[in-house]
Amino acid sequence: MKEVRIGLVGTGWMGKSHSKSFLNALYHFGEEYGKPVFEMVSDITEESALKVKKQFGFKRYSKDWHDVVTDKDVDLVDITTPNAFHYEIAKEALLNNKHVYCEKPLSLSAGQSKELANLAKEKGLVNYVGFNNVMNPATKYIRRLVQDGKLGEITKVSGTYDQDALLDQQIPISWRHLKKISGSGTLGDLGSHLFSVLQFILGDMKAVNALTRTVIKERPVRLNSTETKTVENDDVVILLSQYENGAIGTLSSSRIATGRKNHLSFEIQGTKGTVHYTLENLNDVHVYFTKDDSVDRGFRRVLLGNDHEGYSAFQPAPGIAIGFNDFKTLETHEVLSSITKGTSYICDFNFGFKVDRIIEAILESSELNSWVFI
Ligand SMILES: NC(=O)c1ccc[n+]([C@@H]2O[C@H](COP(=O)([O-])OP(=O)(O)OC[C@H]3O[C@@H](n4cnc5c(N)ncnc54)[C@H](O)[C@@H]3O)[C@@H](O)[C@H]2O)c1
Repeated sequence: MKEVRIGLVGTGWMGKSHSKSFLNALYHFGEEYGKPVFEMVSDITEESALKVKKQFGFKRYSKDWHDVVTDKDVDLVDITTPNAFHYEIAKEALLNNKHVYCEKPLSLSAGQSKELANLAKEKGLVNYVGFNNVMNPATKYIRRLVQDGKLGEITKVSGTYDQDALLDQQIPISWRHLKKISGSGTLGDLGSHLFSVLQFILGDMKAVNALTRTVIKERPVRLNSTETKTVENDDVVILLSQYENGAIGTLSSSRIATGRKNHLSFEIQGTKGTVHYTLENLNDVHVYFTKDDSVDRGFRRVLLGNDHEGYSAFQPAPGIAIGFNDFKTLETHEVLSSITKGTSYICDFNFGFKVDRIIEAILESSELNSWVFI
């Protein structure tokens, strides 16, 4: 049994989610894939760092992330800060020969992400981006349908990632609304998940033609305040896309999508079949095949089960249902086993770079009002 000593930077939603998931990975897969040890935690908010230190039993804490990336007893730096800090922390961690697990989007630009990908490769260190929806057994099943030719030639793709969590104009401004800290808005926050899933299923995107819009232009600086601050990035994005495999698509994302809670939804149509999926019913995949007899041809619902990669780690029989935390558990298991056993993984920094290049191309396209090639 090998210990993997974790240095966590950022103790918000994802910081806690990663820590829980490392424990879940241990419980679901066993110590043979590595035992997570909570070595050191850091947050600029001392109170939050101390709370998470106590909650998960981290041995030490610091208010300065530099202490984590330079610590001799840390093997893996786990970055769950807002987007703008990913690049600097990941780079310093790699330069200090630490494995790195970083939340999405990997950085604020394709250039920064490419630099990180090259550095990680040169150093031979694990470099993992938290695109948990790629770990969804449904995503893997759908990829298999496409790869095995069961859908035939892919003719059209449509997809969106919509939530209404930021619909209320009275919700105060946060780092997610500021260019300097978040980069893009819904594009990098939600859209990046859609692009990651489609990148895995369909391969590289070739070109985009996009529109972005900021609908809620000002937000209060804090709850119930009359003082406001300008929202600096996109609430809504819509694009036409072309994939290298010939598929063409319409994709979108909105963080003010009235009524939509977690609508990562997409449909892939091919000459022999179609698949439709939404994360709001995450255990159901809807498929249609032309090979079925015409009399009973129609969309049918495939419930996730043991035949779908990843599912059986959580449930012994089909249809019992898995959830978001299980994707994160599969992800942290992959991080641990890539360190202890050298196993391969999909969402490396080069994958993160590809998604960041799509985001960058969409912003360029919307600025220029024209097609941009990726
Ligand atoms: N994979 C997913 O499904 C998913 C979901 C939500 C967020 N995210 C990503 O995770 C990251 C964090 O998002 P969140 O929702 O957890 O944010 P959050 O606001 O809940 O937490 C961020 C934490 O980072 C701390 N922080 C800020 N700057 C720091 C610095 N320089 N050094 C150390 N700590 C610092 C903050 O004090 C806060 O505790 C973002 O990149 C986001 O895009 C991914």
